[in-house]
Amino acid sequence: MEDRGVEAGRMQSEKETTEALLEEGRVFRPLPQIVVDANLNPNDYEDAVKRGRYDLEAFWEEAAHELDWFKKWNQVVDRSDAPFFKWFAGSKTNIAYNALDRHVKTHRKNKVAIIFESEGGARERMTYYDLYRAANKFANVLTSLGIKKGDRVAIYLPNIPEIAIAMLGCAKAGAVHSVVYAGFSALALRERTNHAEARLLVTVDGFYRNGKLIRLKDVVDDAMTACPTVETVVVVRRSGAKIDMSDGRYLWFHDLMDGEQSEFETREMDANDPLFILYTSGTTGAPKGVVHVHGGYMVGINRTLKWVFDIKETDIFWCAADPGWVTGHSYIVYGPLIAGTTTVMYEGHPLFPGPDRMWQIIEKYGINILYTAPTTIRMLMRFGAQHPKKHDLSTLRLLGTVGEPINPEAWIWYYENVGNQNCPVMDTWWQTETGMFMVAPTPCNVLKPGSAFKPVPGVHVDVVDANGEPVEAGKGGHVVVKEPWPAMLSTLYKDPEKYKEVYWSKIPGMYLAGDIASKDADGYFWFQGRSDDVLKIAGHRIGTAEVESAVVSHKHVAEAACIGVPDKIRGEVAKIFVTLKEGVEEDEDRLVNELKAHVRKELGPIVIIRGIEFKDKLPKTRSGKIMRRVLKARELGLKEGDLTALED
Ligand code: WTA
Repeated sequence: MEDRGVEAGRMQSEKETTEALLEEGRVFRPLPQIVVDANLNPNDYEDAVKRGRYDLEAFWEEAAHELDWFKKWNQVVDRSDAPFFKWFAGSKTNIAYNALDRHVKTHRKNKVAIIFESEGGARERMTYYDLYRAANKFANVLTSLGIKKGDRVAIYLPNIPEIAIAMLGCAKAGAVHSVVYAGFSALALRERTNHAEARLLVTVDGFYRNGKLIRLKDVVDDAMTACPTVETVVVVRRSGAKIDMSDGRYLWFHDLMDGEQSEFETREMDANDPLFILYTSGTTGAPKGVVHVHGGYMVGINRTLKWVFDIKETDIFWCAADPGWVTGHSYIVYGPLIAGTTTVMYEGHPLFPGPDRMWQIIEKYGINILYTAPTTIRMLMRFGAQHPKKHDLSTLRLLGTVGEPINPEAWIWYYENVGNQNCPVMDTWWQTETGMFMVAPTPCNVLKPGSAFKPVPGVHVDVVDANGEPVEAGKGGHVVVKEPWPAMLSTLYKDPEKYKEVYWSKIPGMYLAGDIASKDADGYFWFQGRSDDVLKIAGHRIGTAEVESAVVSHKHVAEAACIGVPDKIRGEVAKIFVTLKEGVEEDEDRLVNELKAHVRKELGPIVIIRGIEFKDKLPKTRSGKIMRRVLKARELGLKEGDLTALED
């Protein structure tokens, strides 16, 4: 494959080994009080690594035995149709059975499953039994509305308990959910709904974010003008906003739920039946539909949550992400519920009404584990340590981050001011495609701020050159996975060829993640960012091609090129270069504002644009491809590299 942009930017030099850093106090030893009763203790850690290396199948088979199956597998991983690996082939299960049904037969029946905090500060609690009955009712609603096994259900809801009810209800009934992040635009919702050919959509009248009522149902009205496969739209009443329900497709969630029984026989699914589709950005204009299945996925997230976050059923776990992203699927909804713990859902903005909202929530509920993004940490850090200091955060025992590389400064701030030096920080590297943590420490490992540590036991991530050969310590390379892992994506929806091409063809025999990293002399991973044209804006994944196609859909634009530029808080933001159509004579400032609003309308507010610059022409190859790397090098004042392909 073409080897581009492999830079060893922020890695440790070889001399900076763990030993040397330990002497200087720049690494963090495991804390005795945590290690003493950890799910994976330090003695077992090395053993787990070995077992995961020498007998991958026995390793994951043992993990699978922690869960309930209707019928056992005849093979742990069927490789006969690689790269379409089938984990626990021949078995029958249901992830929702493992998240709910089996708990209500135990002492967990009446324990709190979900703590919900609205932006306005109201609290709601649902026990496992409450959630079980609600999910059963919703599965009955789906069945009554004619939804059958394998049918797709789109879910366009914010972070409220109904999103968990809808997801679990789908899983119980064997329907495939496709959650679309509530910050996406009508167009993005439409595109994803149509690609999935969803028969039903679940949404809400409105919700609160940053003190404002977000009228989500209006966005749905806009999208539904061109979603021909959707027969029914189920609307949750949350805000009481006045909305138009006159279209015969719209039905109230509460009316439907009231009419149903709270018993439902959870469907026995094949372990490799799809559970959900989650669209994510890649290098083309259209998002990819990543498919995850019931069996392997639940085994992977259960094991990783138990080991990395040392989760116990007595914990209150707050993954401060949104269920619209994979982090929320795996570690707000399914993972914590399978583990029988209490999961926290917060509807609103982390800075509303002030910079200590998150610390207030931790104190209010006595949260034990906090998992958030580097962007959020950097944002909160800017407001100063006095805010966390005002609150009793002593219930915290572990911290975590995900979504983008964390700079050591933010790591240390988090460790010192939020964790009060009592909570190790678990930096977890993974992707929508991987479904579960892939490179991450456990609380019993020695940590270096800024490094995500090493692959989770049983996971075979490595850093290689363009030919698939391991690179030496300190050198940057491509992140690959050399063996299948249980929570891996099963395919790309309706596009198995693309699945093979994007992930498995560039370095034959290995899964190519699209990230650049290096390993130091101790084998610690240092992630540096994406190697492809995917941006990470505040941890949100956005393809430059998607931004460009949104920009060129504006009537005045001829061509556009989007690049990522570094940002202190958000990690990365977008910069766009535009050539205008002949004869356009508009005021530049006005046009900039118009284009920003246009992108927002096309894609949603998650695309943060730093600047728009008008050019007479864009640098291109002779075959007409825009050379974004040249624009980026010029923008950042770096060497432009090889320009032989440039047209003129
Ligand atoms: C990036 C999010 C560095 C990476 C779960 C990956 C990270 C992409 C980390 C996936 C981390 C995620 N350190 N980079 N701890 N975690 N990334 O699909 O570039 O939204 O490929 O999944 O986020 O983003 P996605």
